[in-house]
Amino acid sequence: MNWDQLDWPALDRLRAGFLSGSAADGPYWTTLSDLASYDLTYAERIGWKWDALLRELTLRHWRPPAGTTLIDWGCGSGIAARRVAAALGADHFTALQVWDHSSLARSFAANQARAHFPALEVTEIASAPTPASLPAAYTLVLSHVFNELSVEQRTALLALVAGAAAVLWIEPGTHADSRALATVRDRVRTTHQIVAPCTHRENCPLFLAANERDWCHFFASAPVGIQNDSNWVRFSHRAGLDLRSQAYSYLVLAAEPSARLIAPSAQLPAGSSAARVLGRVEIFKPYARFLACESTGLHWLELTKRTDPALIKRLDKTPPVPLYALAHDGHRANAMTPLVEAPEPTSND
Ligand SMILES: C[S@@+](CC[C@H](N)C(=O)[O-])C[C@H]1O[C@@H](n2cnc3c(N)ncnc32)[C@H](O)[C@@H]1O
Repeated sequence: MNWDQLDWPALDRLRAGFLSGSAADGPYWTTLSDLASYDLTYAERIGWKWDALLRELTLRHWRPPAGTTLIDWGCGSGIAARRVAAALGADHFTALQVWDHSSLARSFAANQARAHFPALEVTEIASAPTPASLPAAYTLVLSHVFNELSVEQRTALLALVAGAAAVLWIEPGTHADSRALATVRDRVRTTHQIVAPCTHRENCPLFLAANERDWCHFFASAPVGIQNDSNWVRFSHRAGLDLRSQAYSYLVLAAEPSARLIAPSAQLPAGSSAARVLGRVEIFKPYARFLACESTGLHWLELTKRTDPALIKRLDKTPPVPLYALAHDGHRANAMTPLVEAPEPTSND
């Protein structure tokens, strides 16, 4: 499939289903060409969100345990598992299994995975998996599926989450989708290690009445050049999407405590705690304003230029992974040091 072959009416129909909520009524893929058109456009855009999450995990040197079976549940065209296998190495997993209640989707996703990773054993799961039917050790990948599920289907899926060695999960960055994911997070916060986005395992502070307007979301940028690509411009207009940044929410879980997590409190400067900055940082002339989440809750804070001019400049241009050692008084950030640094580019880069 290329841009000239794209089935625009099929994309319009899919979009209408996503927006109206009718995507939750049952399988909606009608041909393999639907999936190929989705894979080139909507799914690729979802892939940019996966790239952002996988970049953070790579910089943090975190991976799901080696030797697990990768399960892509609600696989659609299979973009999520492909991005995970490409970033972590297909040989990090013993096999890939794809499940979707659409057999067309299963078939498309499996074939794509085989084409991309010829050495990886890929199978289609024939009927809705249960904890007993899955391999003993599996890494569960979930992407843009939760809002299509009934209460019963969500319950069945959460049983799979509970049994997974690791879970990598991305949903849209809307208020509702992010909060749905935070509800899951609160259900597993004492049984699983929360690798991301949280820096703590207290109850999620979003659910306090004072925080009901806030939500836990992030933005992934499109690869360089997309904004000037006539095909993508046409797609963004027709789909009503702004490709400058893709909002997403996410959750990464591990069944076993991992050695390498966000700075243990012992390694943080005295008086500071590990915090994640949610959403967008607003940059004004004399200060930056942002929402930080840490074990004491959510805080709207200001970082003045005088306190850290270099960081303000960076936040404006190329913000680091939004994890910080943060010291504040509830209103002002007194010290703010990125906890995850990308290596300096080498002369060959
Ligand atoms: C918006 S698409 C996302 C596909 C893919 N995960 C991605 O990120 O591009 C949602 C997918 O979930 C599947 N789905 C919805 N309800 C499901 C269910 N109850 N069981 C299995 N798959 C389901 C749909 O068929 C569709 O392929």
